[in-house]
This record gives sequence, C-alpha cells and structure tokens, in this order.
Amino acid sequence: MKLSLELTVATGPEWVQTVMADFSAFLQDHADCERKASAMAMSFVAKYPDRVEMIPELIETAVEELGHFQQVYSHMEQRGIRLAREITEDPYIKALLECCHTDSERRFLDRLLLASIIECRGAERFRLVCDAIRDDAELKNFYHQLWTSEAKHGNVFVKMALHYFDQAKVYDRLNELNAAEGKIIQGLSLRAALH
Ligand SMILES: [Fe+2]
Ligand SMILES: [Fe+2]
Repeated sequence: MKLSLELTVATGPEWVQTVMADFSAFLQDHADCERKASAMAMSFVAKYPDRVEMIPELIETAVEELGHFQQVYSHMEQRGIRLAREITEDPYIKALLECCHTDSERRFLDRLLLASIIECRGAERFRLVCDAIRDDAELKNFYHQLWTSEAKHGNVFVKMALHYFDQAKVYDRLNELNAAEGKIIQGLSLRAALH
C-alpha cells in the first residue's frame, strides 16, 4: 500500500538537461546525497533510541543507502571521477529543515515526513535520469533500481510516522510539508545535482 503522497510540483525537462550536460558533476553530488541519506537514517537511531519499533527499518534503510553510495562510487571509479573535495551545502535540504517545528515531539514528526518527501523527490528524479540515459544499459538499469528503492523509502518513513502519530495528524502535516517542498524545489537554481 502506498503511504507516501504524490509530489505537488513535477520536475521539468530543464533539470534533466542540466544533469545530462554535466553527468560527472551530477554523480559527485549524487554520491554525497546517498552518503548523507545513510547518515540521516542512522542519526534517527542515535536521536531516538527509545523509539524501538522503527530502529530495525532505520538500520536497513541506512545499509541500503550506503549500498547506493558504494554503487555510485563504483560508477565514478569506472569513469575516473573522484568524490567532490568540497561538500557544498544542499540549499534544498537546508530550506526543508527550516520548515520543522522546534519542539521535540512535532520536530520528530516533521523529520520523518521530510525524510519521506526527500525520498519521493529522489525517486522522481532518478526515474527522469533513467529515462534520459540512452547509451549505457548498465547505468540505466542502476537508476531504474534506485528509483524503485527510494520510492520504497518514501513509504517507510510515513509508515514510521503512522506508528507514533494518528493518521489525520500525519497526513495534515505531510500535505503542508509537501506543498512547502513544491515551492522550495521551484525556487532552486538549476545545477547538475540532485537538488
Ligand atoms: Fe539511496
Ligand atoms: Fe532512499
């Protein structure tokens, strides 16, 4: 059952064109995103050790994201691309985190729901990248696998939220954050990067 919501704003073709025009830079950013996604899942474990019901799935998600990092890095190695030396701040993540409430209970819900939205945006964009790859079947297949995996993660974080909060509260807030995400993504300047 799909628990995550559809994104409010679809990514346009100009983003895919920007990525395909500098795929090396995109891979560098993509590797960082996977590494950060793994760290983010483990940061939930560190911050909420008493929320025992979600810990196994968080560990599983962290392992999968680290696996994605390993796979992206292997594609980079094959192409002679190094990891980015300087990791720039992701303006998308920064703007999303500014939407979070500051009190601990509502912040916990917000962080779970933002994790879902970030995963859904990743899934949408990896699908676009997959569709745009013409000449490399292995790379195309990799992005196909990725978008299905990130869509699954999009669901997992809503499932966790539904475990700790009632359904109306979860979906009211998810709708709000989803609408905010649409505005944020539209306001970003185009880069050969996931966001
Ligand atoms: Fe991932
Ligand atoms: Fe993911």
